[in-house]
Amino acid sequence: MAIQYLALTTMIVLYTLMFIGGYVSAAGLGLTCPEWPMCPDGIMPSEEYLIEWIHRLVAATTGSLVIATMIASLINKNSDLKIKVTSTLATIFVITQIGLGAMVIDTKLHAVLVAVHLGIGILLFSMVLLTTIFAFRISKVSVSSKA
Ligand code: HEM
Repeated sequence: MAIQYLALTTMIVLYTLMFIGGYVSAAGLGLTCPEWPMCPDGIMPSEEYLIEWIHRLVAATTGSLVIATMIASLINKNSDLKIKVTSTLATIFVITQIGLGAMVIDTKLHAVLVAVHLGIGILLFSMVLLTTIFAFRISKVSVSSKA
């Protein structure tokens, strides 16, 4: 997949994840699945844990997409320093965020950790947004250099 579409897909999936996270929090569903990394029923979701299970599944998908975007930007010959930095920071933030998600569960939704979870989510979104903008720029450069 072209780097700009990979980055855009990552951003859309991340936005969806943040929306689901907001729902989990506002609906008071944060502790419906009290274990980490799996819910008590194992890999398959039961109705009881469904929303939290979806938040974790989309988080794992987001993590894979963020890492794939970083690899694509590190190996793309048209990449500049900016996209390498933003995609690497996005990877650092996504790994931190997933670890923090586990701590949020372990501490039974400690308020400070939930706030940090939201704060890192915003930093992560900023880096993915910048990476997407830079990816569209480098794809334009490669098209015009071929013409
Ligand atoms: C890329 C990874 C992730 C992102 C971007 C993300 C983002 C978010 C956001 C934006 C919220 C809403 C916060 C609020 O409204 O204050 C949230 C809530 C939550 N997230 Fe995540 N999340 C991620 C991964 C995880 C993981 C792996 C877990 C682990 C189980 C997790 C557990 C939770 C919980 C329990 C809440 C609800 C907290 C509450 O009830 O107040 N998150 N997440």
